[in-house]
Amino acid sequence: SGTLTFANRLRVPPLLEPVVTKDGTRQFSLTMQAGRTELLPGRPTATWGFNGPFLGPTVRAKRGDRVAMRVHNKLGEPSTVHWHGMRLPAAMDGGPHQMIEPGGTWTPRWTIDQPAATSWYHPHPHGTTAAHVYRGLAGLFLLDDPATAALGLPSTYGVDDVPLVLQDKILDPNGVLLEDPKPTWGLIGDQILVNGVHDPFFEVTTTLVRLRILNGSSARMYHVEFADRRRFHVIGTDAGLLAAPVPVERVQLSPGERLEILVEFAPRDQVVLRSVAGDNGIDEGDYDLLKFVAADRLTPRPPVPGRLAATPRIEVPADARERRFRLSGSDEINGREMDMARIDEVVPAGATEIWHVENTVYAHNFHIHEVAFEVLDIDGQQPPAYLRGPKDTVFVPGKSTVRLAVQFGHFTDPKTPYMYHCHILRHEDKGMMGQFVIVRPGT
Ligand code: C2O
Ligand code: CU
Repeated sequence: SGTLTFANRLRVPPLLEPVVTKDGTRQFSLTMQAGRTELLPGRPTATWGFNGPFLGPTVRAKRGDRVAMRVHNKLGEPSTVHWHGMRLPAAMDGGPHQMIEPGGTWTPRWTIDQPAATSWYHPHPHGTTAAHVYRGLAGLFLLDDPATAALGLPSTYGVDDVPLVLQDKILDPNGVLLEDPKPTWGLIGDQILVNGVHDPFFEVTTTLVRLRILNGSSARMYHVEFADRRRFHVIGTDAGLLAAPVPVERVQLSPGERLEILVEFAPRDQVVLRSVAGDNGIDEGDYDLLKFVAADRLTPRPPVPGRLAATPRIEVPADARERRFRLSGSDEINGREMDMARIDEVVPAGATEIWHVENTVYAHNFHIHEVAFEVLDIDGQQPPAYLRGPKDTVFVPGKSTVRLAVQFGHFTDPKTPYMYHCHILRHEDKGMMGQFVIVRPGT
């Protein structure tokens, strides 16, 4: 592993142009479709994508925008589209209760009301999420806000503001995507794709580049660093910016997590971004991801700012409700598998709660829909500084407990649940997932 020639130019998913309707609503159209993609040279693979054969375009909206999505399903089987990281009414969430039948169109709409962040979208049909995402259904959903725009961060999409969707695949000699070669802990592929491109390079033209990294894999963790061990700055976690940039040499991302980083380049720099084996008890190996090749002359960008537009920290009231979630095996939370007919938790609108996620076994992670949370501690220890920002997905090491301060939103619907679950997709499909509703306080 790890021997790449960096022969292919990185593809940056195109921005999806909305239609702006008379009342100012921004309408985005996504079609889920099958196609063929040359994931490896000369071996076309049957894949799925949005508006194309593999992955999807990048949706971009800003705080206050009214957005309307038109999601058309041309897959020939039912699926859904979930807006991972989005605060919205449960009926618009795109979880397993919002199935789109073959040939059908789903038209959720909501108003963006959350800080700037790197979110994403992907299918969420119960029991087949892993297969649908793995075949290629995933895209980015970037959120902007005025305070962040005023920071002067690199923000020319595809030039100095570049998404990196990290995914691993297993392909047989004929290019067929293998979904479940052996029923292990989770699918760990040996071909790494960045934005769907194998063996990629990216041409750097500015002195500072902002990378929005998404772990879009089924199960693999990435421990991302530069081969020359250069320092870079983490500026944002899943759901928004950190208070200030945090210098690091390496970051970890579990499935579903995002990080925004700033990297400085000198003219003619050549450096490889790679993922190294971690210490999570999972056989992940070392993999090169992408080579950065800097031009002879770089356009100057302002330096890394000292402070960022901090999202207000989550204030935990002294009498905050505490809830406990025990992860066991690869399919149970609190001793039960997911049941779509059962509501596991009822949360009052606007609540701030402390959730204890106790992992009794090997590595998992934990994602909560609709909310933003902060990681209070991991086995009583402070999380690394670069994770002390607003998040929606967290790695939960084997045999450990993570405590989260969870801030719930204000959309109430006593009948339509949101999900919380392990984002290792096979675990989620097997039932390591639960459902909560948000209700008016006092009901
Ligand atoms: Cu990324 Cu419940 O999902
Ligand atoms: Cu899991």
